[in-house]
Amino acid sequence: MASLETGNLIGQSNKSTQNKRYSFTIPIATRLIASFLLIIVTSNLIFTIIGVSLISNRIVAEAQERVRTDLNSAREIYMGGLRHISDVIRLIAYRPIIPAALLSGYDDTILNDLITLKNNEGLDILTLTDKNSKVILRASDPENIGDNQRQNELVAAVLKTGKPVTGTIVISNLELKIDSPELAERAIIQLTDTPRARPMPGTEETSGMVLMAAAPVFDSQSNVIGVLFGGVLLNQNYEIVDRIKQTVFQDIKYKDKDIGTATIFLGDVRVSTNVLNEDGSRAIGTRISEEVYNQVVINEEPWIGRAYVVNGWYITAYEPIRNIEGKVIGILYVGILEQKYTDIRDRSVVAFLGISLAGVIVSSILSLMISRSISVPVTRLVSASRELANGNLDVKVKKSSNDELGELTDAFTMMAAALKERDEKLKDLTRRKVIESERLVLVGQLAANVAHELNNPLQGIVTFSHLLLEKSCTEDPARNNLQKIVTQANRCRDIIRGLLDFSRQRKPDISLSDVNSLIQECISLVEKQALFLNIEIKLDLDPNLPRVIIDSSQIERVFINMVVNAADAMEGVGRLTIVTRHDPVEQYIEVEITDTGHGISEENLEKIFDPFFTTKETGHGVGLGLAISYGIIKEHKGTVLVESEPDIGTTFTVRLPITTVKAETVNESQI
Ligand SMILES: Nc1ncnc2c1ncn2[C@@H]1O[C@H](COP(=O)(O)OP(=O)(O)OP(=O)(O)O)[C@@H](O)[C@H]1O
Ligand SMILES: [Mg+2]
Repeated sequence: MASLETGNLIGQSNKSTQNKRYSFTIPIATRLIASFLLIIVTSNLIFTIIGVSLISNRIVAEAQERVRTDLNSAREIYMGGLRHISDVIRLIAYRPIIPAALLSGYDDTILNDLITLKNNEGLDILTLTDKNSKVILRASDPENIGDNQRQNELVAAVLKTGKPVTGTIVISNLELKIDSPELAERAIIQLTDTPRARPMPGTEETSGMVLMAAAPVFDSQSNVIGVLFGGVLLNQNYEIVDRIKQTVFQDIKYKDKDIGTATIFLGDVRVSTNVLNEDGSRAIGTRISEEVYNQVVINEEPWIGRAYVVNGWYITAYEPIRNIEGKVIGILYVGILEQKYTDIRDRSVVAFLGISLAGVIVSSILSLMISRSISVPVTRLVSASRELANGNLDVKVKKSSNDELGELTDAFTMMAAALKERDEKLKDLTRRKVIESERLVLVGQLAANVAHELNNPLQGIVTFSHLLLEKSCTEDPARNNLQKIVTQANRCRDIIRGLLDFSRQRKPDISLSDVNSLIQECISLVEKQALFLNIEIKLDLDPNLPRVIIDSSQIERVFINMVVNAADAMEGVGRLTIVTRHDPVEQYIEVEITDTGHGISEENLEKIFDPFFTTKETGHGVGLGLAISYGIIKEHKGTVLVESEPDIGTTFTVRLPITTVKAETVNESQI
């Protein structure tokens, strides 16, 4: 169905400017840079956190792995010491002078021989007992013999098994005194308190920790006739720990501190160590931390990890030292200065952070460049669009790339060119229209003047031709011609009247009127006419239709013209429906005139309001009815809408505003 709407929409105002919203906007370049930076910084932060923790963990794991290996080496060295003593004792026990001394007593030669052997092999103790554990010969104190060594677990074990035994044992100070007062003196260690160390139970450690070996002495029938035992007191003897330091850590120093240290603990007391106090002395008499003690001595488990040693943090490894019965009597420790690894870690972290920062800077510069490469053309396009909107149709945007933005620039340039072309065409058309309408106005004025001038003489022609026709008798040969003159004169009069109506520029003569009554009046005027006799007229009038301020005679003309047009279209047979309604919100009333006529073609729909457009036969229509109606509705600030479907019918909808004309302008007497 084709439709056409004319005139302004009632009550509608241009709200586009009122609707303009002002909101805070962030430029696209800033948004792009911000998003890029957000991504870069977040990912870098994640990488840095992960990287730093990976590096730290790796370095710690590396250090722990190393200290574990170092502990193995330290154990080997410690065991090497034990093996050496074992070998020495076994070899001495095999010497013939030893059973000889037992069987037939010893002389100074044997004694001197043993003293020399003890000194050469670095032994602190070298003692011979008979098979009842009674000391026969003591190289460390030859005068002091005859005591019983059955409490010596190694001697007891040898006598029991008849085999050599080696191990670490703890000997009380009293017993050490029997062996040698000097040894007993060396064993005494003053306890020193250090941060994080276990609380001290006393002030000194007096027992001695001894690497000891014992071997059986046989007679010629392979009977055990005695035991030879010897050993080295570990208290304040630094040979093993220094050998560990030298072999495992190559005596390397880091920031004036030994990179690696080793210690032998008796219980929880350092009795042999190369860990140094602040004053540079060996930290003898200092004690282990509570947690390491619990793990290694109480739980009998090795400890690998970070620990506070005397006065600094070390990556440490501790493992229990057991006596021959398997009881934990001490601890072997190695540690690597943590400082070295924390420095490596710190340097790696700084390097990592530096690389990340450099990455952020480089990525930021790149993102700046990328976002500029996007935002600059966009900004150019925006300002060009503004210029275009302000009427500069010659605006041009430089194409900066061959990507989508380049395509957009091309499209913009094409659009500007097309707009310019259309603008020029429009201008040309408007110019021609203006010229034409000026010409039409002139022609219209001329036509109005001519119509006005012709009206009076034509009135005379019509009147007198009518009179002549009435007076002429039926046989008059001129009557036929007279009849034609009357018809043509009437037609001329209709054209002149139409022209006068169309050109009349007067304001509406308004009053408050009831459109329903107006419609009923129209219908009563036309329904008796022959054209309407076979037309079914249906009125559906809104009883609550408000009265409107209109020029009722002009609006009546509109309705009559539409009703007559409808009847013409139905060629006298069909249904004419008139509906009235009102819209209280939009404040207008609506009159809908529908017919079941032949309808209007789409092509003609645009022309029906043009003056002198008619499809009716000559003499039946001038083509001014709708042109005049349109002018009247426009004067009333109303609209007219046409919907038509060929062979089905046509609907004209007239809308009239309820309150367009102010009440005070209405002639009171007319209300
Ligand atoms: N209801 C309708 N159904 C079909 N065609 C219509 C209808 N109303 C108008 N028209 C078309 O619009 C044309 C113009 O109508 P308009 O009323 O302006 O002139 P007219 O009726 O031809 O002559 P007049 O000046 O006598 O009114 C008509 O000739 C007709 O073709
Ligand atoms: Mg008409």
